[in-house]
Amino acid sequence: MLASVAVLVSGGGTNLAAILASPEIKHARVEIVISNNEDAYALTRAKEAGVKAVVCKSENEIHKYLEGIDLVVLAGFMKILSKDFVDRYKIINIHPALIPSFCGKGMYGLHVHEAALAKGVKVSGATVHYVNEVPDGGQIIEQKAVRIKDGDTPETLQKRIMEEAEWIILPRAIEKIAKEIYEI
Ligand code: GRF
Repeated sequence: MLASVAVLVSGGGTNLAAILASPEIKHARVEIVISNNEDAYALTRAKEAGVKAVVCKSENEIHKYLEGIDLVVLAGFMKILSKDFVDRYKIINIHPALIPSFCGKGMYGLHVHEAALAKGVKVSGATVHYVNEVPDGGQIIEQKAVRIKDGDTPETLQKRIMEEAEWIILPRAIEKIAKEIYEI
């Protein structure tokens, strides 16, 4: 039995691509990709992979597509979800820093990497965590560190953290949870 996964996106969808291409995911299947942004390139990636892709402008609309879904994955989903919504599903998120550093309100996109470089940290990375009503506040599932290099800019750091951490730990976390769902 495969765990059924819904992936929520807003943008480019490189994490979605990593999930769809992951040989590591054996106990889960992406049933649907949901975007709050009709221009998200992630929608094209989903369709090209033969996965159903829809645009939803409200949480009420999203609920309709989540019946029977075991796990909701936020992969660059740029909207804060209500407590009512997060209480209803098992939801995970990928954050481009080592939580509890550089997370919470306002910490998204390049802001995260700007803050890490401004602080002068020597390592940053990515975190997969459960989603609760506190932004970036749920239990940590996976983390991977990435070293800062001399001359890093927010853009170079963002790219390296995606390549060396996000695209690895998000599929890994999905497989881990999928196994937990069906092998207990
Ligand atoms: C990633 O950096 C992710 O950590 C953050 O949003 C970005 C999404 O990128 N939550 P993509 O759409 O997966 O390319």
